[in-house]
Amino acid sequence: MDQATQDQQRLQDLHALLQRAAYRYYVLDDPEIPDSVYDQYYRELQALEGQYPQWIQADSVTQRVGDQPAADFQTIAHRVPLYSLDNVFSFEELALWEKRLVSLVGSAPYICELKIDGLALALTYENGVLVQGLTRGNGQAGEDITANIRTIRSIPLRLLTPDPPARLEVRGEAFIPAAAFQRINQERLAQGEALFANPRNACAGTLRQLDPKVVSGRRLDFFAYAVPQSTVQTQGETLDLLQSYGFRVNPHRAQCPDLSQVQLFIEHWRQARHSLPYGTDGVVIKVDDFTLQAELGFSSKAPRWAVAFKYPPEQAATTVLGITIQIGRTGALTPVAELAPVALAGTIVTRATLHNQERIASLEVRVGDQVIVRKAGEIIPEIIKVLPELRPEESQPFIFPTQCPECSTPTLKEDILIRCPNPQCPAVIRARIEHWCSRSALDIQGVGEKLIAQLVKTKRVKTIADLYTLTALELSSFERMGTKSAQNVIQSIEQSRSQSWANVLFGLGIRHVGQSIAQELTKVFNSAEALAQASPTQITALYGIGEEIAQSVYDWFRQPENQALIKALHSHGVTLVQTESTLISEKLLGQTFVITGTLPTLSREACTALVERHGGKVTSSVSKKTSYLIAGDKAGSKLSKATELGIPVLDEQRLQELLSTGS
Ligand code: IVH
Repeated sequence: MDQATQDQQRLQDLHALLQRAAYRYYVLDDPEIPDSVYDQYYRELQALEGQYPQWIQADSVTQRVGDQPAADFQTIAHRVPLYSLDNVFSFEELALWEKRLVSLVGSAPYICELKIDGLALALTYENGVLVQGLTRGNGQAGEDITANIRTIRSIPLRLLTPDPPARLEVRGEAFIPAAAFQRINQERLAQGEALFANPRNACAGTLRQLDPKVVSGRRLDFFAYAVPQSTVQTQGETLDLLQSYGFRVNPHRAQCPDLSQVQLFIEHWRQARHSLPYGTDGVVIKVDDFTLQAELGFSSKAPRWAVAFKYPPEQAATTVLGITIQIGRTGALTPVAELAPVALAGTIVTRATLHNQERIASLEVRVGDQVIVRKAGEIIPEIIKVLPELRPEESQPFIFPTQCPECSTPTLKEDILIRCPNPQCPAVIRARIEHWCSRSALDIQGVGEKLIAQLVKTKRVKTIADLYTLTALELSSFERMGTKSAQNVIQSIEQSRSQSWANVLFGLGIRHVGQSIAQELTKVFNSAEALAQASPTQITALYGIGEEIAQSVYDWFRQPENQALIKALHSHGVTLVQTESTLISEKLLGQTFVITGTLPTLSREACTALVERHGGKVTSSVSKKTSYLIAGDKAGSKLSKATELGIPVLDEQRLQELLSTGS
């Protein structure tokens, strides 16, 4: 296929996809793809149509200006059109916007406001009374939804002023607060109705309700931000005026003398916006002074005196270039989608986890597919949706391997996990070593993927213990390893011997033992030996440690190869006991305990460790100095002595109570 034919095909596919998406969005109020993805495809289609104007279809979404007002409400022309805003996505683009502005009017002080993610409304007050409320519609005319707007409690029905202007137009954003959105969707779920995709859609859907009672129950809210024919001189004064009239005005705004101040505002809200109780997707930067605004005027669609800085979307569309299988340190086979690079939440994403076979099946994802990826905060990027309309004809469903792609051992299915059962599988060994060397485990520097691959391939390293037998001399013979870096690696391996027992335990890579579980375990089981001897019941006696984890730890220490590993690590001087004392609390400081008899869950060692971690001291015989006796089953002479001396006796449960309350 030549490029033009490919482009034509793509143009037709995008056309069909966007048509359908627009229908779902505007007519059904039930969008299928996120706004950011719609915009992305819209821009791509626009670019292709720019290149090949002969292929523009009359009904293309790009040929329609604004949304089509719904039929049920009366359409009324706006006295002053509602413009939209130009968007910028980076400080570079923002600087270009300012450059143009400066060339027209010189430098101008700004005011920054949050861009509220809702729907613009135009309200009209006559002699202080609300007489009309319109949606933005296509900017020229909107729908008359006055009855619905009256139900919004933060919109005054009468202005709070003794001498209102004869007529006043107010603009602002209607929105649904996050909590109300949650509640609405919960109710819809309970009633088996389709869920709203996001607060903005819930808001749009609500404002188009024919029954104002329904609207009233949805708790819409409103921030006022503009008066198109204002009598004051600046945007800042306008906001103050609106506030004095009784409107809700967003409190987060800043007068910014120059762009560097604007940048600070934008940077601050990039994270901070996530803790607001309503959605914002950017910052609106406006020239504060109305005289300057008037000089700058409008382009065909948007004012030259304002611009929206949009935070990077957390969802975007891209192509699946391939599906590869990653083998983890427990042998689990995890499918990973290799993606065409795409900018997402400020980073470039090239891979996304597909979790497991089930997930592939439920997504119906294939190599070649267009997919929507999401990245929220620190989470690993994830594919949330496939767009089958854009699927290449020759694509085939992905077949999950029945053999380990590394060592060809037939795989095993455990629940939804597919695993390579071969403990000698080179991929599994590599993953274990990578984990051992990682920052949160033994923090060994200079041992990266490439070196590990060579060490495992040459069979020089078969277990993590083998790392401790490496010499600088032999390392320097490996690819891309100078004498100096070989020495550094060896030094880092040396140092890792004195990492904490908690880090070592995490580094062992026992299934279900993450960093915090390892911390918890080592607080009570202060050596590998103690943990190896612990029964699942003794382990579950620890707060926050469930049976599955306990069983997994127990099983791990029962495997001969793991016992051999612990022995080898011990012989290489790796820390397997708690060295530094890490007090959990000082609740038992200054108190002396004696333990006797068999406790229901804690072993003698575990109980001692527990007391010590809370600052207490454990001794072996009862005397006048003993603060408490901890007694279990078959307590003998110590119990009678304690009773004789009037020393309080605790059972295990009382001890736990003492630890949680301190009294
Ligand atoms: S001023 C002529 N200020 O963003 C300028 N708009 O993308 C009119 N929006 O249609 C807009 N918060 O619905 C302005 N603080 C704010 C805003 C805001 C949200 C919306 C508004 C507008 C859209 C433009």
